[in-house]
Amino acid sequence: IALKPFNTFGIEASASQFFAFQDLDSLQLALKHAAKAPLLVLGGGSNILLTQDFDGLVLKNELKGIKLLNETNEHFFIEVQAGETWHEFVLTAIANNWAGVENLSLIPGTMGAAPMQNIGAYGVEIEQVFDHLKAVEIATGELHEFKHSDCQFGYRESVFKRELKAKFIITSVTLRLNKTPDFNTSYGAIQETLDTMEVNDLSIKSISDAVINIRQSKLPDPKEIGNAGSFFKNPTIDKLDYEGLKAEFPSIPGYQLPDNKVKVPAAWLIEQTGWKGKTFDNIGVHKKQPLVLVNYGGGQGAKIRDLAFEILDSVSTKFGIELHPEVNII
Ligand code: EPU
Repeated sequence: IALKPFNTFGIEASASQFFAFQDLDSLQLALKHAAKAPLLVLGGGSNILLTQDFDGLVLKNELKGIKLLNETNEHFFIEVQAGETWHEFVLTAIANNWAGVENLSLIPGTMGAAPMQNIGAYGVEIEQVFDHLKAVEIATGELHEFKHSDCQFGYRESVFKRELKAKFIITSVTLRLNKTPDFNTSYGAIQETLDTMEVNDLSIKSISDAVINIRQSKLPDPKEIGNAGSFFKNPTIDKLDYEGLKAEFPSIPGYQLPDNKVKVPAAWLIEQTGWKGKTFDNIGVHKKQPLVLVNYGGGQGAKIRDLAFEILDSVSTKFGIELHPEVNII
């Protein structure tokens, strides 16, 4: 089966077996039959780069449903099935006045993939509203529950990308959303955009609109240009190293973190090494946001991977900083 429609990079690759599941029973049955075949679980396919055909079983998560589990004076606990589209859920939350995910508007992908890489944008990460999730263990087919602390969230990280990688399939996520919004406009671009939109009364809707504006103005729409969002993570370096670099490159941006660490924007590093906007046949580095690698159509995954490693080498040579891919390279 052709995988092009199932990955936002729009890479042409195929899988020897493909199964879309809409309920737990059929997932558990499929796992039993899959036995030892290699598995690739897909949600929205928005964080993967396919570099070759997949000789195994692709399982596409199509579990749907949004349910209010319970509420307290302050919170709504909303259980969302993993196959729901993330942004559609955000719109549902805004329509119902469930606050907390508005800054995460327009992120591609599904609910199931969201905690996996602790999606984040504009000052908010999903872990801030995460309550628990349910996941099926691939080896046994059993359903397990993971609380916040079990997930070991970090920047674009969770236990599901490390120790438990390829061991569980997330089937539902329960979020703890706020009845009273706690607006987060700390990310400079949000306030600037709200100002240009002439918004006076802050609301979760106006913040969502601002985030959508910002994203649309600099990130390519995967429906038009194949991509998987930021290809690399923003690296964290020691403050001493940062100060050394600052002496040599006075304009280097950096965000102070605890423990004498500094986060440096990968976009800046990539721009400084001359890669921004570069195209090679049908692939390239996006012209407005160099963290994003793009497939203009017909590009090969292996070529995009090679480009990523060339960029990584340039950054390492010029700045001595190691970039790490955020996208799952398959
Ligand atoms: N910058 C440049 N050149 C550019 C663009 C940006 O030098 O062409 C530098 C500037 O210093 C700028 C800084 O990068 O201030 C930050 O840029 P931006 O606000 O666009 O954010 P980012 O760090 O590049 C991260 C996330 C995005 C998320 C935005 C907004 C990562 C890997 N990426 O990008 O997430 O939308 O912040 O919060 O953390 C994604 O993960 O797929 C993604 C798009």
